[in-house]
Amino acid sequence: MKFLEGLSDDIKKNLLEQLRVSWTHTSTAIEGNTLTLGETAFVLSEGLTIGGKPLKDHREVESHARAVDVLYNLVRKDEITADDLFDLHRLVISEHVLDFYKPVGAWKRENNSTNITVGGRQTMVEYSNHWEVPKLMECWLDMLNTANQSSKERPDVLNAYAKLHLSFVGIHPFWDGNGRIARLVSNLPCLKAGFPPIIIAKEKRYDYITALAEYQSAHGVPSLKKELVQEGPHLNKFRTFCELNWQISMELVEQAHTLQRNRDRNARNAFPS
Ligand SMILES: Nc1ncnc2c1ncn2[C@@H]1O[C@H](COP(=O)(O)OP(=O)(O)OP(=O)(O)O)[C@@H](O)[C@H]1O
Ligand SMILES: [Mg+2]
Repeated sequence: MKFLEGLSDDIKKNLLEQLRVSWTHTSTAIEGNTLTLGETAFVLSEGLTIGGKPLKDHREVESHARAVDVLYNLVRKDEITADDLFDLHRLVISEHVLDFYKPVGAWKRENNSTNITVGGRQTMVEYSNHWEVPKLMECWLDMLNTANQSSKERPDVLNAYAKLHLSFVGIHPFWDGNGRIARLVSNLPCLKAGFPPIIIAKEKRYDYITALAEYQSAHGVPSLKKELVQEGPHLNKFRTFCELNWQISMELVEQAHTLQRNRDRNARNAFPS
């Protein structure tokens, strides 16, 4: 990955670890996990628990961190398939439930819905129909694989991320774990093109959910009768939101490169040629 180029092995390893911790913490916190950033880093690096915090929260951050590693490996893969998404689902859903309607590592088997509040009005909206999911996800995987091949510059990658993310959560192909998986896999074009991942800040959860709800209220959810993503001001707003959040990882990368430059300069000063 290009953003790691020029870094010594130890700095590279530490940067990847910072991204893994930050991504895991923010994404699980958005979903309600109670571990702090420091606690998440501690659990992941030491393999020890935090007294009084739920076991489920520990399992969740461990599973998410493993899913990040799997995602890094997927960057090297030419074509992403439904099986790759099923593998991520098995990891993200750390608590396996024995229920036909809650399959782990498979598409949802019944419809799911949510409440949205837009323009001072509450509405109940259904995500894409479960029987359309296999076909819709084929289209979604086409969009992902095309973006993986063709997105090279920052604006292309950002655009691909926003479209992949919006359509994935609109389809809501799994009974649970959709948000966490969307926040992981929509980043593949970023990583492939050599940029760090877009990490949605947990403090921005309200803006995030509001942007998704506004888009959904304007365009509805994906269906086989229309394009997966609808262009317009709501897509633009979500893209701008994603761009602002990119700062989190960009700053970590910048910090690592600054450390490297200082290290190189000190070495040159200590051993002038
Ligand atoms: N109105 C909406 N339209 C589309 N997607 C939405 C909407 N509201 C929320 N979402 C997405 O659905 C996710 C929640 O779905 P789900 O519970 O399947 O995912 P999760 O990973 O278990 O939870 P979370 O995403 O909260 O971490 C949200 O994080 C967000 O990404
Ligand atoms: Mg959930």
